[in-house]
Amino acid sequence: MKIYKSICLAAIMFFLAVFLLSKSSWAANDCAFILNTKCTVCHNLGRICRKLGEKSKSRWRSAIKRMVKHGAALSDTQQHELTICLYEQSDSVRAVCK
Ligand code: HEC
Repeated sequence: MKIYKSICLAAIMFFLAVFLLSKSSWAANDCAFILNTKCTVCHNLGRICRKLGEKSKSRWRSAIKRMVKHGAALSDTQQHELTICLYEQSDSVRAVCK
């Protein structure tokens, strides 16, 4: 009986760990998180927020690539996520820029 209990406990711990890990990697790709942690290293958000609605998707993509060349530390996934958020002016971007 005791062995079943510990197996059951191990299974619960496992799923909890998977859940927490997937949540934190999701958070790392969240646009508000990227903007607040990666994009404010060199300039403030005003520089980005001013451009909302002014750039096409490919212009946002190349601007972000240029920031990476300047030294912004974004993974490929983060670059992709942020391009979409900035172009579509997602809720998270609006919240950060308001
Ligand atoms: C390592 C420093 C650095 C980081 C980090 C950085 N930037 Fe910049 N950014 C610059 C510099 C330098 C300029 C002015 C020269 C230029 O436009 O390339 C600039 C200008 C800009 C501009 C105005 C020019 C344009 O293309 O409209 C935007 C928008 C911008 N950054 C967005 C971002 C975003 C989004 C991030 C986060 C992914 C970011 N930046 C992170 C250095 C940085």
